[in-house]
Amino acid sequence: MANFVGMMMGRDRANPSFREHGSDGRQHTFYVSDQSHYSVDKAAAMLGVGRANVRKISSDNRGRMNADDLAKVIETDIANGCVPCAVIATCGTTVLGAFDPLKQIASVCRKHDIWLHADGAFGGPALLHRQHRDLLDGIEYADSLTWDAHKVMGVPLTCSMLLCQHQGKLSKSVQQDAEYLFQVDHEDLNPGLRSIQCGRRNDAFKLWAAWQALGDNGWHQRLEQQFKLATFAADYIEQSPNFELCQRPDYLTICFKVYGVDVVELCEQLHVSGEALIGHANVRGDQVMRLVAVNPEISTSDLQRLFENIVAKQTSIISA
Ligand SMILES: Cc1ncc(COP(=O)(O)O)c(C=O)c1O
Repeated sequence: MANFVGMMMGRDRANPSFREHGSDGRQHTFYVSDQSHYSVDKAAAMLGVGRANVRKISSDNRGRMNADDLAKVIETDIANGCVPCAVIATCGTTVLGAFDPLKQIASVCRKHDIWLHADGAFGGPALLHRQHRDLLDGIEYADSLTWDAHKVMGVPLTCSMLLCQHQGKLSKSVQQDAEYLFQVDHEDLNPGLRSIQCGRRNDAFKLWAAWQALGDNGWHQRLEQQFKLATFAADYIEQSPNFELCQRPDYLTICFKVYGVDVVELCEQLHVSGEALIGHANVRGDQVMRLVAVNPEISTSDLQRLFENIVAKQTSIISA
């Protein structure tokens, strides 16, 4: 929903009459990397722009959006009369944990006056780590940012934030008069004027309470432990003859091949036997396992046991 709202603000800035009158017949477009999350396509459908008008920009060998390709696609679209609504840069892609190059993307957006939305649903919390915050270098150029506290930060679902650089833009895109509802004296204190839903939960409270409990230092330490677990897992995989690491992780996802077996079947067997609930993904044409080091409560020996279970299952599938 936060990506939806960020993209909506972009659409409304590119075409201020869209909200009132719908599309004027011109082709409206969004831009995102080919590694992006499916919520962008869904949002494009719901915003009346259409999933087919989400341009999937190529990514480099680490899964980061190729900014030169982005510039070319946008220029071609503008020459063809399209209305670019927003570029959605992913900060922490779901599969590889890649961070798109924000500074380069922002300069393309500035050149063509296009809204830059950053999808930091997964990777936004890296900003809370004193060193790894560099992963989001250039985030200050984004017009809006999605940041989930219910993933890496462990706040109970749902707790998703949308930050916007431009005061008033959100209300402009969302506000709807309803005399029977909005009767408060202090309108700026009423979040209903800036939200899609009418009735909703007080999700912000959970984040506030967690921040009170942990403080900035507590968040840093939580992230530090998650990064340590990711590094341990990547080292282990690199040294194992049974696995092949797809790439050293920049963030908290570790993707790896398991030799000699169908990874989908392996994941299913681990799940059914109750040994592990671990997902799979397609990376550059290969089915791979995808570990996400989000739980700081687990230890390196838990991870070691997980890998031993995977190897045992791998051996039994191969010898069956
Ligand atoms: C990069 C990215 N964006 C957006 C989302 C959507 O997150 P949610 O709907 O949980 O807020 C996810 C979920 O995995 C994600 O990885």
